[in-house]
Amino acid sequence: MQMRTCVSLWLMLLLAPSLMFLLVSPIADGTDLPPPVAGLSYGFYSTSCPKAESTVKQIMKSFLTPNVSQAAGVIRLFFHDCFVQGCDGSVLINDTQGEQPSIPNQTLRASALAIVEQIKAKLESICPNKVSCADVLALAAREAIRRAKGSHFEIPTGRRDGLNFANSTTVLRNLPAPSFNSSQLLSSFSSKGLNATDLVALSGAHTVGLAHCSSFSNRLRPTVDPRLNTTFAESLIQTCPNSSINVAVNMDIVTPNKFDNKYYSNIVNGEVLFDSDATLLDDNRTQATVKKFAANDHDFHHQFTISFIKMSMIEVLTGNQGNIRKVCAILNSKTTSTATTIDSYVATELDTPSSYATM
Ligand code: HEM
Repeated sequence: MQMRTCVSLWLMLLLAPSLMFLLVSPIADGTDLPPPVAGLSYGFYSTSCPKAESTVKQIMKSFLTPNVSQAAGVIRLFFHDCFVQGCDGSVLINDTQGEQPSIPNQTLRASALAIVEQIKAKLESICPNKVSCADVLALAAREAIRRAKGSHFEIPTGRRDGLNFANSTTVLRNLPAPSFNSSQLLSSFSSKGLNATDLVALSGAHTVGLAHCSSFSNRLRPTVDPRLNTTFAESLIQTCPNSSINVAVNMDIVTPNKFDNKYYSNIVNGEVLFDSDATLLDDNRTQATVKKFAANDHDFHHQFTISFIKMSMIEVLTGNQGNIRKVCAILNSKTTSTATTIDSYVATELDTPSSYATM
């Protein structure tokens, strides 16, 4: 009896660390998470701004609890930041010559930009000049995934903000288009250090959010893409009588606001919106992963976490590179009166676009 108690105690001691890990994260095994690149670390702000992460969590909660659909806007904003000159917060800069006017960025949500700005304003008030806009966006996107019932994971921080932004042409060259086939997607992702598995996993973000008719009308006219399920195609044609940018539909027709693996069964069922989604089933470099994630929600979340952390470290600025912007929308060199600029910017941008119609 005593012997058995002893063995049980030893077993408990041995298993305790992994049990603790299971309690804080739905990811069963954290050992294969990508290590932080040089200059980034987990808990980077633990001494310089100890409340940084909890502040992001708290403000994201206040925005997403009444309206979890806002999560999608923040997640996409982060992807568009990282793929254009790295995760340096440059997409947040509001400049007529900058990244926002570029075609793919015209459908970014103004409300997502405003949420980031609101978090940044709060952080500037509690620890001025410490937390970069690039990190605010990374942490907000991580939080958005969690709030939409996706996985919960830690993310390395320590990113610095870019001192400049890309122009429209560079944005177009770096962001994959919804009309891309698998080879174009693989080459786009590979140029950012991401592989075929990352492509399939990260595309899974299309399990939440909206798309405008203009982004997929090429699959409806002049002929209907045969990969589309007939009933689904008919309903899209009704909702999108033309390529009006003013109508948007849910990307995941099964669980539109839940960050789950339904996107992959939608691919298999011909119920996804873009060529870039459908093509993942056509190519033998991506097909097996689509099927695997369609069959297993846990496998999807596990790989999504790994791929998301990889994406979050693309071409980051660290150490003495870049700077810490005071207002995410404005380069420090152009900031005049910080307080009034933040207030007026947040007030204007928080008006959520009214044009979203959902199926
Ligand atoms: C694989 C290449 C990708 C292409 C071609 C693509 C393209 C698009 C397009 C065209 C839209 C809809 C825009 C609109 O009409 O309003 C969209 C929405 C979205 N994308 Fe992607 N995307 C890709 C990858 C990603 C990745 C890697 C993420 C994040 C990890 C992501 C997250 C999202 C989200 C969350 C939305 C919904 C945004 C909202 O509701 O405001 N996408 N994407």
